[in-house]
Amino acid sequence: MKVNGTPYRSLWWEENAQALQIIDQRWLPYDFRIEQLETLAEYCEAITGMHVRGAPLIGATAAYGMALAARLDPSDGNLDAAWAALNATRPTAINLRWALDRCRKALRPLVEADRAAAALRLAHDIADEDVEINRRIGQHGLEIIKEIAAKKPAGEPVRLLTHCNAGWIATVDWGTATSPMYQAHDAGLDIHVWVDETRPRNQGALTAWELGSHGISHSYITDNAGGHLMQHGQVDMVITGTDRTTRNGDVCNKIGTYLKALAARDNNVPFYVALPSPTIDWTVSDGVREIPIEERAGREVSHVQGALPDGMIGTVEVTPKGSGVGNPAFDVTPSRLVTGLITERGVCDASAEGLAGLFPEFAASG
Ligand code: MRU
Repeated sequence: MKVNGTPYRSLWWEENAQALQIIDQRWLPYDFRIEQLETLAEYCEAITGMHVRGAPLIGATAAYGMALAARLDPSDGNLDAAWAALNATRPTAINLRWALDRCRKALRPLVEADRAAAALRLAHDIADEDVEINRRIGQHGLEIIKEIAAKKPAGEPVRLLTHCNAGWIATVDWGTATSPMYQAHDAGLDIHVWVDETRPRNQGALTAWELGSHGISHSYITDNAGGHLMQHGQVDMVITGTDRTTRNGDVCNKIGTYLKALAARDNNVPFYVALPSPTIDWTVSDGVREIPIEERAGREVSHVQGALPDGMIGTVEVTPKGSGVGNPAFDVTPSRLVTGLITERGVCDASAEGLAGLFPEFAASG
C-alpha cells in the first residue's frame, strides 16, 4: 500500500545492509519511522514492544529473526535458542509459532553450510505468501460486500465496522479485515467504515490512517459506540481480524471483539472474521479455555499516547494515582456468534466442518 504516494510493505529486506527494515508502528499515525533490525535482541524487542504487531506480521518478522540466527550460527543449538527467544515475545497470536516451527522444520534436515541461505529464502517466501493470502481474502470478502450492496437503496454506502487494526501494516500487505475494504473501494463500491478506537493502544488510529491514505470514507468511533450504531441500522457488516482461531471456529482477537459479536448477534448484523490459514490453531478446540491471553503492562491503560500541540508525541496519565489496572489484550468470540470465516480458500462456517472442508490436509493432521 502507499504512504505519501510511495508503495510500501510493512517489512522488507535491504540487500545492501543485509538487514530487515520495519515500519516502527509505535509512532503511527503521527510519524512514519523506519527501523533496521540487526540483532536477535532487537527482533525480540520489536515484537514484544509492538514496533511490529498484528498476527501475520509478527510471524513474518520472526521468520527473518530465524534467518538472522542461521546466519550468525547455524547450529541446532543456536536455532533452538532463537526459536525459544522469539516464541516467548508474545503468547497469543499463533502465527508466531507457526512461522518459527516452519523455519526450524525446514532447516533441521539441511547441513549447516546451507542453512543461512535457506532460512532467508524461507522468510521471503513466508512474507510473499502472506501478501497473496491476504489478496485472496480480499477477493472473497469483496463478494460478500457486493451482495450487501446489491440489497441497499441506491446512493447508500455499505457500512462496515471493524475493531483493532487488521490492516496492511498488521500483515505484510493488504491486511486481512481491510483487504475486502480496499478491494471494494478499488472496484468502485461505495463503502463507509466505522473504525473502533480500540483502547488501550488505539490500533483504530492505525486503521483510520490506513483507510484515509487510501481515500476510503471512515469515522473513528469510541469502543462503546458500535452497539448503539447497530441498534439504529447503521452497520451492515462487522469484519475483524484474528490472532488465533481454533479448529472449530472460536475466534481470538483484540480485546473487545467479543462484545462487538454479541451486539451484532442481538441486532442481526453479520459478523465476519478474515482468517488467513496460518492463524488457525488446529491443536485447540476450546478457545475460551485453551488460548493463552496476553496480559500487557498496566501503563498502556493508565496512560494515553498522542500528538501534543507542539508536534511532539507524548503520553498523559488518565487514571487516579493508586488505582489498580488490568490489561488483557485479547478475548475469544465463540464460534456460534461468527457468521462466517473469510479465508484465502473461500468463506466457510465457523465450525470444525467448515474449516475442515476448506483445509482438509491440515484438519486431518491437527
Ligand atoms: O496487539 P495487536 O495490535 O498485535 O493485535 C492485533 C489484532 O488483534 C489483529 O486483529 C490481529 O492480529 C489480526 S491482524 C491481520
